[in-house]
Amino acid sequence: MHVTLRQLKIFEAVARHLNFTRAAEELHLSQPAVSMQIRQLEEGMGLALFEQIGRRTQLTEAGREMYHYARAVDDLLGEAEEVAETLRSGAGGRLRISVASTANAFATRLLAAFVRQHPGVRFALDVTNRETLLRELEENQADLVIMGRPPEGLDLVTEAFMDNPLVVIASPGHPMVRRSRIPLKDLEDEPFVVREPGSGTRIAMERTFRERGVSLNAGMEMSSNEAIKQAVEAGLGLGIVSIHTLALELEAGRLAVLDVESFPILRHWYVVHRRGKRLLPAARAFKDYVLERARAYMPPAVGGEHSRPGPVEGIVDTSAHGG
Ligand code: PGA
Repeated sequence: MHVTLRQLKIFEAVARHLNFTRAAEELHLSQPAVSMQIRQLEEGMGLALFEQIGRRTQLTEAGREMYHYARAVDDLLGEAEEVAETLRSGAGGRLRISVASTANAFATRLLAAFVRQHPGVRFALDVTNRETLLRELEENQADLVIMGRPPEGLDLVTEAFMDNPLVVIASPGHPMVRRSRIPLKDLEDEPFVVREPGSGTRIAMERTFRERGVSLNAGMEMSSNEAIKQAVEAGLGLGIVSIHTLALELEAGRLAVLDVESFPILRHWYVVHRRGKRLLPAARAFKDYVLERARAYMPPAVGGEHSRPGPVEGIVDTSAHGG
């Protein structure tokens, strides 16, 4: 079998897009050049890798098998490039870190402190929601990920390093602010401003309401914690956010935490990477730094004097998209 790296790279792109034109655009090649390379690859292997069903390009069984190897080769080449760059640039290196939007409240400060101690390290930080983080892990686009409950099903190394309590917030003038031990059922009629469906916070709050048989009145949907806090402050409804996002607003008295039964929901933060991944020195150092230092970024406990912890999440998720 005669296969070149170039052919594998082109095959990987066509198989990922299931589209010759899009693969050609991504690789800055012409579409006939891509088709020719695929034809030569198929001839070299003596197997058809794609089939045309109507107007759709699909992988044959042999194509699906080969895609697995093409991805692995592509990942390894990416790693080799990173190692070469690390060796060229001395002790530093480049770190791709992705964090849940909610974790950004502490992750940026943690990174800043780390970089002060490791000035040679350059990093790219992606701040995004849980759903995107899962995709990035699957596609090996991040060295390290900081997220809420990791999914099962991907072969991951996960370590919990800090609590992530979710609380109910209201504007300070809301009548429930003065009450203590509010039954969850009493929130049924209250409109909530909620995060987008791909958010770990949203999934966890929905699960808590569902498990207690209380319906959640999700009136308005917003895609960032900042937007939710502003909406709640403006009196548009109640919200549920991690206490990591609240330090300034609580200090300034712009938001209040309600004393609701079943809250806070006790979640945890995890540092996560793929099991097979060979962590570069910079990534290993940052992971150790997170495990040792992150707790210093834990905000003080909040809640009414009677508030007691709500449900505690299991250590690992049982569904691919559970929060
Ligand atoms: P998110 O937080 O709501 O910003 O996605 C992640 C998580 O808590 O799992």
